[in-house]
This record gives sequence, C-alpha cells and structure tokens, in this order.
Amino acid sequence: MTRDFVASPDELASLAHRVLAGNWVEEERRGVPFAYTRPSPSRYPWQWYWDSCFAAVVWRRFDPARSRAELETLLSASRPDGFVGHTVFWERPVSLARRLFYNVASRSATMTATIQPPLLAWSWRIAVGDPAAEPRIVRHHEWLRGNRDLEGDGLLWLVQPDESGLDSSPKYDPVWSRRAHARAGFPFLVARNRRLGWDARRVREAGGPVLCEVVTNVLWGLARLAIGEPSITPALVDRLWDERLGLFLDEAQPGGLRPAVETWAALAPLALPDLPEPLGRRLVEEHLLDPKRFWLPLAPPSVSAAEPSFEPGRARGWARRYWRGPTWINAAWLLWMGMRRLGYLEQAGRVAMALAQAAGREGLREYYHPVTGAGLGATDFAWTTLAIEMADPDPSAARSYL
Ligand code: GLC
Repeated sequence: MTRDFVASPDELASLAHRVLAGNWVEEERRGVPFAYTRPSPSRYPWQWYWDSCFAAVVWRRFDPARSRAELETLLSASRPDGFVGHTVFWERPVSLARRLFYNVASRSATMTATIQPPLLAWSWRIAVGDPAAEPRIVRHHEWLRGNRDLEGDGLLWLVQPDESGLDSSPKYDPVWSRRAHARAGFPFLVARNRRLGWDARRVREAGGPVLCEVVTNVLWGLARLAIGEPSITPALVDRLWDERLGLFLDEAQPGGLRPAVETWAALAPLALPDLPEPLGRRLVEEHLLDPKRFWLPLAPPSVSAAEPSFEPGRARGWARRYWRGPTWINAAWLLWMGMRRLGYLEQAGRVAMALAQAAGREGLREYYHPVTGAGLGATDFAWTTLAIEMADPDPSAARSYL
C-alpha cells in the first residue's frame, strides 16, 4: 500500500457529504413522502434498513433534518404491528427475475418480509433524539421481541443468512450449506421461507435452521440500551461466548450447531459498552491485533486471514458472495469503538488512518482489499462515509454512541 496520501478530516468530510447528497432521493409514493440515501445509486437503488441507519448517523454532521427524514422514512414503511423490512421498494417493485432471490411475499410487495439488524433506535439516539418518545420505534421493538426472541432471553433469531446483513459470510456455510446465500440452492430457501411466511417459530418447527447471530444481537443490544430497555449483553455472553476460543459464535437450532469460523462478527460485541472487560481484552489481544488473523494493513478484514475460506479480493461467483474477506467500514467502526473504550487508542487511530487513506485514494467503495487497500464493489457507497466518524470523532456524538 502506498503511504503518500491521507485524506484530512476536512477532505474526508466533504467527500462524505458529496456522496450522501448524491445518493439522496426525495419523492412521494401514493401520497406518502419518502426520503432516503441510496446505498449506491448504480447498484443498490432501494432503501436498505441498516444502510439507512448508518447513513443517518453520518447525515447528522451535515444536515440533521436528513437524519430524521431518513429514519422516519423507514418508520413510514413499518406495518401497524411494528415490522420493518430489510429492503423497502419505494419507487418500484422488484423485477420478476429478482423475485427468486428477494424475500418478498408477492411481486407487488412494497418491502421484504425479512429483517436486517435492528439498530434503528440506536441510530435515532445518535442522530435524532430519544427513541422512547417515538411510538413507532417502541412498536418495532415489540414486533422483534414477539416474533424473533424465540427463547425468551432477549436474543433474536434469524431465518436467513441475509437477515444479518452479512449475506454470504463463510460462517453460514455449515448452517445453510447448499442453500446459503448466493449458492445454487438459495432460491429454494427463499421459496420455503415464503411458504412459512418467514415466521421464525414455524421455520424452527419445520426443521430450521434458525440462527442466533452475533452482529444482529449486538446491534439489537445497542438499540435496546438506546431506548432504555434492559441490556442483553449478559444473555449474549451466556449463550454465544466460547471461553476456549475467546470468540462469540452463533448458535443454530434445532441441533445447537456453533460454527467456529472466525469472522469479524465474532469480535463485534466489542461495540457493547457493557461487555465485560476481560472478554473485550481477549477479543482484541488474541484476535484483532494478531497479524495472522485480523491485523492486516487495512484492518479488520471481514474474515480472519487464518481461515481457509478467507477470500480478500473481489466477491466472486455467479451471484456475488459478500463478506468473505474484504474490509467493510461499518464493521471497522463497530470494532474501533471497542478499541477506544478499552484504551487501545494508538491501534484505533491506525485503523482510522488506514481507512481515511484508502477512502481518499480509492473513493468511497463498498469494501476494500484488506492487504492492498484497493477499493472494490459498488462505488459511492453510503455507509463507507462512517470513515469520518473514525477520522474525526465528534466528542458529543462519541458519548451518544453508548
Ligand atoms: C449487500 C450487503 C448488505 C447491504 C446491501 C446494500 O447485500 O451484504 O449488508 O445491506 O448490500 O448495501
């Protein structure tokens, strides 16, 4: 990686603002106004739930009214029972070909019937105000508890790999095998779950798998803290911490499979303000700072370099297989938070600096090669603007992350 150019916080901020503004869309569907940031206009035109939450966080630096509009647009899509889909098709429904891969109940559906990591309340707290004062967010949490907390301990369960946002992560290979995301059998998983109404209890009864996934529950945990609900960190530690490996690992049901595939997700609880400190230190010292695993020039790769499944380059395959090695900026941001909280300031600064350098040189790409720093995937990618959160931590915002 060349070390000649690092975008200054001001340059990075203006790049971020330019990309967010270029991706912004503001229109009306049958009398309902909508406004949101496209994840990447050329590749991802619709409103994706977690992309919008990340974009709203960064919008607060430039135009807080847009943070609110972005998140209110997700809420205007919500059903009366509080469900909010993974993708909302504001402008037009999905094409016939895409229906095979998209989790829509019918072609005219206005959003998917699946979820994405539910961090809305947390991003509302960071960018807008008190989520407890917004009844639609309160109902959203009720829907999640009522439909996805299958064991009554507060943790949520997923019915498909793409619900985690980490679509083709190798940690899902042993769970969904040929029906994993972007594998030939994936349309069969979609078709079966469509028959079961994407109802997690019915999916479990029909033989599963359902998955208690780490990143989803970390972001759900942050959303719960943001709205004033009890912490689920103790439940996360009880169920998903692996003391021998020093990692957080998913649990599938029925059967209790815990794939020991080392991905950034296994470290994601670092973002939780109440993670017990000894666990956080093990995540950082035994894994994150290991040059053979995650401490590559552009850290953190989405999969440990020591995993046989590590593919640091472009997402390959007949459909793109994402999250199998490259570095994604939302992941970096969550781990960076934990490094700072635990006092690894120099290392957190190094992550921020390397990302600012890659973003300045390559533009705001969807993900980057963790060794060479080359920009990969979609261009003008909205959540990559989170690089500014690390390059220029805003003290008041830093407080409200927690
Ligand atoms: C890819 C990512 C997913 C993201 C979406 C839109 O499918 O895996 O996390 O939300 O693109 O950016």
